[in-house]
Amino acid sequence: MHLVVTFHRLALSRAPNMSTTARAASSDVFEGVLVPPRAPAPASPHAHKYYQDRNRKWPFHTNDAGARLLGALFDAAREVIAVLDAHIAARAVDEGERESILREGADIYAKKPSIRERDVTWSQAEYRHLGLQREYCRFKSVQRFTETWACLERAMTAGVFEGVGGGTRRVASLGGGPGFELIAVREFFAMHFPDVTLDLISLDLEESWRGAAEGLGLRFAQWDLRSGRVAEACGGEVDFAVASYVFKMYMCEDVVADWLAEELKTINSVLVINRDEYLKQGCAMMESRGVDVLKLLKQDVGHDDRQLVFSRDRGFKPWSNASSMTFPNVPYEEHKKKSVDRDGGHGGSRGGGGGGGWRSNNNRWGDRSGRGSSGNRW
Ligand SMILES: C[S@@+](CC[C@H](N)C(=O)[O-])C[C@H]1O[C@@H](n2cnc3c(N)ncnc32)[C@H](O)[C@@H]1O
Repeated sequence: MHLVVTFHRLALSRAPNMSTTARAASSDVFEGVLVPPRAPAPASPHAHKYYQDRNRKWPFHTNDAGARLLGALFDAAREVIAVLDAHIAARAVDEGERESILREGADIYAKKPSIRERDVTWSQAEYRHLGLQREYCRFKSVQRFTETWACLERAMTAGVFEGVGGGTRRVASLGGGPGFELIAVREFFAMHFPDVTLDLISLDLEESWRGAAEGLGLRFAQWDLRSGRVAEACGGEVDFAVASYVFKMYMCEDVVADWLAEELKTINSVLVINRDEYLKQGCAMMESRGVDVLKLLKQDVGHDDRQLVFSRDRGFKPWSNASSMTFPNVPYEEHKKKSVDRDGGHGGSRGGGGGGGWRSNNNRWGDRSGRGSSGNRW
């Protein structure tokens, strides 16, 4: 970390001669991402505005507690970005090369060249690119943190963490990359289960995520999710796992469903966070292997599979109203209300997003398919 601080100061001291790219790299990467309420005191407790998207086009809102959590997240992410900046500086022979690494990373992040060819957001070679990693940590951190936090709140309302008690709990992120979802787990447990000591591990095929994950204070192990054996990879049995933005692209195949269904005999539950609202095939793969799929988002205006809990033989509560959410409308749900209004449908609730959940086999609304409008926003 000392090296990082030194680099950061060095970069700032060069400011007068810097090009635009270099200046962008050294200015505060989270400037303008969280906007405090204007005086006088607002009526809504969710008066802080924040953005998950790169272009700051789509505002979300949070309360004072959420604003504090985001502030702490920014601090952690700034440190990791500083680590990546130091690696980029060490690799580049001169300022020009450093800028070109940053520019390439920004291009790969924005253009996603592998989506069409390989049907993955980024290829493994692209994930390895330090400039891409920098962009990823900068722009994905807020979305991953807030979505995981909202998922944890819903899961807690459904009773997923009942009996967690004290002691040490191990939580693994499958295909975890830098692991911002685990930072949400860490802060959430610190708030709600302060007697629990956590062992948090990001498991990922891409070894070069290690620096970012360890920079965030997580353990990291290189692991191929096609191989299973999660406990072996983590050095002991795992209590909970998170699959954030990996299920559809990397886990919806028999070889993965087989081991996951088997390992859920010892893993308490797996929280699955996606951008896809319709994952009928993936859910069916798990259910046909004896896994219960709990849907955490309301299903009353159509399918919404963006937050799921996989478990075996655990009795969760059926639908129940959530207490107030820290990050309402996460993931973005207001389009569902709009489409229902437009179609003259069922009149779903606006904002918030509920807690509790629906068993997928209790879904009352048939097979309406298709991805929601939010699916392509990021
Ligand atoms: C979209 S990223 C998600 C990262 C993180 N979970 C998040 O939500 O930000 C997908 C991750 O899956 C990893 N990955 C791809 N194939 C994998 C495999 N076979 N085994 C383990 N991880 C893999 C990639 O390296 C990448 O870090």
